Amino acid sequence: MDQPNATQKPDLGLITTQQDQEEESVHRALEGYYRAGKAPWDTGVTPPELVALVEGHGALPPGRALELGCGTGTNAIYLARHGWEVTAVDLIDSAVGQAREKAEAARVAVRLLHGDATRLDELGVPGPFDLFFDLSCYCGIPLHRRDAYAAGLTHRAAPGARLLMFGYGPEPLGSSTTEITSWAAGVTADELHSRFPGWELLDVTPGTNSVPTFWFTLRRDA
Ligand SMILES: C[S@@+](CC[C@H](N)C(=O)[O-])C[C@H]1O[C@@H](n2cnc3c(N)ncnc32)[C@H](O)[C@@H]1O
Repeated sequence: MDQPNATQKPDLGLITTQQDQEEESVHRALEGYYRAGKAPWDTGVTPPELVALVEGHGALPPGRALELGCGTGTNAIYLARHGWEVTAVDLIDSAVGQAREKAEAARVAVRLLHGDATRLDELGVPGPFDLFFDLSCYCGIPLHRRDAYAAGLTHRAAPGARLLMFGYGPEPLGSSTTEITSWAAGVTADELHSRFPGWELLDVTPGTNSVPTFWFTLRRDA
């Protein structure tokens, strides 16, 4: 009988260490942006794509919303102002702190949680939710945590729930590869297709940035 070839076994310890290091690098980089002052993405402006879903023709009726990677809370506050019952999560403590101050100043109730969007079970976020909003969070999440993100949302989605996501595409050819693998990988429609079984990819609209970006709309099966 053939003996197992030890050299072909993956070194699980090494893989785990590399994955931990990737998560730590992402955390450190994000924390650095917030520590440096106003993060470059923190425009304070709600994107027209979310406004259309909330106020446009055929707008969704207000329900329960979960924002993943809420930063300093601009869009969570916008949703709450428009009648949604909002829970919002961010990995970086200081971002959540700023979001709390902004929500208080705006006199709106938003449930703001410091934690990991790929580990919602640890945060006591039962759902169900009618809307998930993700502005550039998923596309930065380490690849090995993305299935957990998708499972967390799927588990908490009301039938027919929407997911509106903005994400950066893969690093354009020719540009220098970032040291954080997930940031270089970005997000694609094909990836969302395979990571979100039980969801329909309703729309993919390119963003207006100088590098490839996309707005994705997904709907959970009824
Ligand atoms: C590009 S910023 C956008 C922030 C906010 N959506 C906005 O538009 O101002 C991405 C945000 O996602 C958060 N984030 C990244 N990975 C996360 C994770 N695993 N769980 C929760 N938040 C995360 C970051 O801390 C950061 O605030």
